[in-house]
Formats: sequence, structure tokens, C-alpha cells
Amino acid sequence: MSNDVKGSAARRLPRHVGIIMDGNGRWAQERGFDRIEGHRIGADSVKDIVRAARQIGIRVLTLYAFSAQNWARPAGEVAALMELLREYLIDERPEIMDNDIRLQSLGDVERLPAEVRQELDALAADSADNRSMRLVLALSYGGRESIARAVRAVARAAVAGEIDPGQVNVDRFNRFLPTSELPPLDLLIRTSGEQRISNFMLWELAYAELVFTDTLWPDFRRQQFYDALEIYAQRERRFGLTGPQIIQLESDLEPKPPGAMRSGQSQELDENGRSLMRERADKRS
Ligand code: FPP
Repeated sequence: MSNDVKGSAARRLPRHVGIIMDGNGRWAQERGFDRIEGHRIGADSVKDIVRAARQIGIRVLTLYAFSAQNWARPAGEVAALMELLREYLIDERPEIMDNDIRLQSLGDVERLPAEVRQELDALAADSADNRSMRLVLALSYGGRESIARAVRAVARAAVAGEIDPGQVNVDRFNRFLPTSELPPLDLLIRTSGEQRISNFMLWELAYAELVFTDTLWPDFRRQQFYDALEIYAQRERRFGLTGPQIIQLESDLEPKPPGAMRSGQSQELDENGRSLMRERADKRS
């Protein structure tokens, strides 16, 4: 199978991709297996997608691995998921380190069992200087919980006189979120045919493109990932502007030869209408 993404998908890669990995249980049930077998094969999909994302140049990949609500699943399933997570962190450590991937977590990780937390913290610390890609595992994570936590922090800062409540706007609020250091979410993929958000990155999704696929997560591999990237590449992102305004902005920002940019550089605009292309050029220069 091809090790690369082609055509427009390669030219218009999202910087930050989030995935709601759904359908493990149904995949197993369809085959007469225990649900846990679905999670086990789902962990193989995680490995494949992380490898593919790194190879094609995705900057940030956020995976919804365990929601704040998943704690209410049967105890045996929760325990199996925690064990799969621990094994993943141990088995994939060389892959993550050798490929210069920084591993981070998002969510209420204090709730995780100590043996998982230990592996997570150790790999996060050891990979902290890795720069080629960030792999963010959303664990014990909920979007509403994350926003509520940020609101508490804003309220505390206001009480302490550190911020003026009247000055709290989108940018300032954003700084209190655990995702503030990440680029905006460009693309959200959800597998298994369900078309809902399920409490994932509610704030961060504001201008993300949504791609829903019927493929169950254990069957979602590199080729299905490329297909989703191709769909993303065909979308016109407008951020509240009009189509002609976007075309004008993109053409204004088109690199003029012999400019610093390589041809085929991604030209998405961020939610303020600024060009990510320009930002990348600035970083490079
Ligand atoms: C949703 O499918 C999936 C989960 C709640 C867990 C996702 C976990 C993995 C992919 C494997 C372990 C993770 C890592 C990072 C190694 P579901 O069980 O709700 O499926 P269903 O809707 O068909 O029942």
C-alpha cells in the first residue's frame, strides 16, 4: 500500500487533525467477538494512523481515546481499555522517540490508574523536546469539562485581580484552555457512521471541517485516513468570509517566485483570515 498521500490532499494538509475513534464494539460484535477484541484491533489502527500522520507531515494528531463519560462503562471494559493504553505506551515508546514525536495528554489524567499514569508521564517527559509531530491523547476527557475548568481558572484570576472580567474575550479565554498551545483544529474525523461530536473539543471545533465515515475504527487504516484528507482538501474553508474574499486572500498571499515558499504549500487560512502559509513562512525565516 502507498506510503504517501497524493494530489490535492498533499498540498492542502490540515495542521491539526482530531479523531473520534468509534465502532470498536460493533466491529467485534459483527464478528461474534468480545467488545474488547474490537478495542485491541482498534489499538492497531492507532499505531497505523500515528505512523501515517507522521510520515505525511501532520503537525498535531489528537485522538479521543477515552472520554470522561467512558468511566461509566462496565468495569471489565474500562480495565481492558486501561491495560491496552498502558501496553500502547510501552510498546510504542521506541516508535514515538525514534520518529521525533511529542506525546501529550488532554483531560483529567489524575483519574487514570497509577500504572497507566506512570507510563504516560514518563513518555510525555522524555518526548517533550521532540518536534516533528505532536500526538495528543484525550484521556478521561470531556469538552464541557475542559471549558468548565477554564471558566474556574478565569474566575479565580478575576477574583485575584489578575484579569478584568470585562476584558475576557475569545483570545484571552482561549489561553485558559489546555489546548491553547496547539494550532486550531482543522479537521475532525469520526468513524463508524455516527454523526455527532460526543463532547470532543467543543471550543476547538469552531472552524474545523467535519468528516464522517462509515468505516468502523478497527478497519480505519492509512488508506481511509488519506481518503478523509482528500475530502478535507476539497473543502473551501471560509471562516465567515465570502468565497470571493477567500480567493482574493489566497491569491494575495500566493508566493511570488522566486519566493521563500515551495510550490504546493498548504494555503489554508486560519479563523482570523490570516494565512497559515504566511505564518509558516515567518517561522521558517
Ligand atoms: C469507541 O468505540 C472507542 C473507545 C471508547 C475507545 C477507543 C480505544 C481504542 C481505539 C484502543 C486503545 C487506545 C489507544 C490510544 C491505544 P465503541 O466501543 O464505543 O464502539 P461501539 O460504538 O461500536 O460500541
